Amino acid sequence: MSEKGTFYITTPIYYPSDKLHIGHTYCTVATDTIARYKRMCGYDVMFLTGTDEHGQKIEEKAKEAGVTPQEFVDRIVEGKGGILDLWKLMNISNDRFIRTTDDYHVKAVQRIFKKMYDNGDIYKGKYSGMYCTPCESFWTESQLVDGKCPDCGRPVKYAEEEAYFFKLSKYAEPVRELLLSGTFLEPASRVNEMIKNFIDPGLEDLCVSRTSFKWGVPVDFDPGHVVYVWVDALFNYMTALGYMNEERDGLEKYWPADVHMVGKEIVRFHSIIWPAMLMSVGEPLPKKVFGHGWLLLGGGKMSKSKGNVVDPYILAGRFGVDALRYFLMREFPLGSDGNFSNELLISRINSDLANDYGNLLSRTVAMVIKYFGGTLPSGRENSDADCELNTMAGELRGKYEKLMDTFQTQGALEEVFKVISRANKYIDENAPWVLAKDESKADRLATVMYNLLEALRICTQLLTPFMPESTAKAADQIGVPAELRTWEAAGEWGKLPENVTVCKGDTLFPRIDMDKELAELEKIEEEARREALPPIEIEPQLEEKVDFDTFCKSDFRVVKVKSCEAVKKSDKLLKFILDDGTGTDRQILSGIHKWYQPEDLVGKTLVAIVNLPPRKMMGLESNGMLLSAVHKEKGEEALHLMIVDDSIPAGAKLC
Ligand code: MSP
Repeated sequence: MSEKGTFYITTPIYYPSDKLHIGHTYCTVATDTIARYKRMCGYDVMFLTGTDEHGQKIEEKAKEAGVTPQEFVDRIVEGKGGILDLWKLMNISNDRFIRTTDDYHVKAVQRIFKKMYDNGDIYKGKYSGMYCTPCESFWTESQLVDGKCPDCGRPVKYAEEEAYFFKLSKYAEPVRELLLSGTFLEPASRVNEMIKNFIDPGLEDLCVSRTSFKWGVPVDFDPGHVVYVWVDALFNYMTALGYMNEERDGLEKYWPADVHMVGKEIVRFHSIIWPAMLMSVGEPLPKKVFGHGWLLLGGGKMSKSKGNVVDPYILAGRFGVDALRYFLMREFPLGSDGNFSNELLISRINSDLANDYGNLLSRTVAMVIKYFGGTLPSGRENSDADCELNTMAGELRGKYEKLMDTFQTQGALEEVFKVISRANKYIDENAPWVLAKDESKADRLATVMYNLLEALRICTQLLTPFMPESTAKAADQIGVPAELRTWEAAGEWGKLPENVTVCKGDTLFPRIDMDKELAELEKIEEEARREALPPIEIEPQLEEKVDFDTFCKSDFRVVKVKSCEAVKKSDKLLKFILDDGTGTDRQILSGIHKWYQPEDLVGKTLVAIVNLPPRKMMGLESNGMLLSAVHKEKGEEALHLMIVDDSIPAGAKLC
């Protein structure tokens, strides 16, 4: 076991109901960054993530897709571009991955449910209330917001069923004490929220089984009931370590968890229901629940149904995984909401990574190569002029540690970048290109270069949990020996060998052309929005009946196109001269230029309604209307003229 001890950190387990978006990625990257940080500090880390695969929503989605629920979740978890692929792409360093459909978990949940039933904390009753299907949650009238689900804002419906209940009310006071004691729930603002909204109004017993659908862990002593998905889901944090099963291990070593990272909307489940259930089964409580904010889009929540999800695959593909990880941790404080935009992302990458950090690295390495052939000479002394940079870099680790230990990733990065800015200023102050012109200043020049490399080494090491791949490449360029790529060495100035050898490498963070990139992204996102639309949309049929006599008043005739041309100054209208069988030409204007070229229509046999009153368009008279079939294809209007068999004579009446 490590001297520092263990550190058990979890993300929520994700619903495999849709592809994950940048909001989910935010949560997982934040957890991964903390896990990597703790490993770097020397902790024996257990980092768990996974998928929450049961519930009515999944059952319904699978039905819509025409597959079994298991096939449905398998595809989203393990399939190409699925959840496992996304975490691999984002370089997520989880030690374990749990799926709630894993056999060992299912059996363990059954045992846990029975244990709570046997100890009298679960009893049978009848549930009636307002149910939100997407959130799998029952709500009381008083909890609804404008009659809708307080979590997702969607409509709820009345539901009633025989069900098992967990005696949550029994644990109201111990949970209140827990929330008020120490630092169990962070940020602290969430404590008040929980007490005011849930504990003070009185905790009601929780409905913990369902009979209205099948896709869940069966209650083995009462067939027909499945375990409420949140009971099933929350215990993942322990079953993955072998709680109530033999197949996994690590419970003694890692439980209780050091921190559950969760989004703010599920803090209630983690800070009230979860500790109450643990008290019921007599297990130690997790040390902390950290409720992070949401990544918003245009001020609102991202969701597939709103068609406004941001695809992490696209962003990571265009800007690099590390740049995306950095942005997510740098732009927003973890506890608060933040508004995502492509513009913010690009400007953050350009200013911090391409400009400040990337430039400092490439300039420094290039100068060491230019002035010293890549290797600094030995035997020099630092002067007072270097004090500020040296001190700042030397003190950086301490500041960073305090911030990282309290999940202030944004603050920690700000501290690192203060040193990076100071180093850039140090180049300007010392003007190495001037020193290089004077032979007698060679020692001083080497010292300046050394100090820059040292500052870069320390910053790079502390950036490692955020950008694991790029920082390894940066450390190669700086010439950091393997044994100095450590937390210990990051706390000490002057560790690089005096005669360090740098190594030229690729530009780690190329500058992005903002306008060009924004336009490209807009195009890609538009395409994705269209892709997400249903392939074909057809207008619903009219409910209102029309009587036969009214219908007969419309005079539909077969017509032949004698000539067709585009109407000048209109990009929509075509002018048709038609033979309608009367011997007199009929002129009809039709706004179909988007779909047809005039020359392609000459000679065609069409259908028109001929007894509409005349109408003027662009100064021309239209006597009737050509019939077309219309629908939407991927959100775009599609139109097909009614072109009929040429053997039908002009003037034939449709009836
Ligand atoms: N399955 C439950 C968690 C059970 S844990 C025992 C669940 N799943 S989820 O897929 O809907 O959400 C997983 C996590 O992603 C939550 O913490 C949620 O807050 C987070 N996010 C989803 N969208 C988000 C943003 N737009 N921004 C930040 N985090 C977001 O809840």
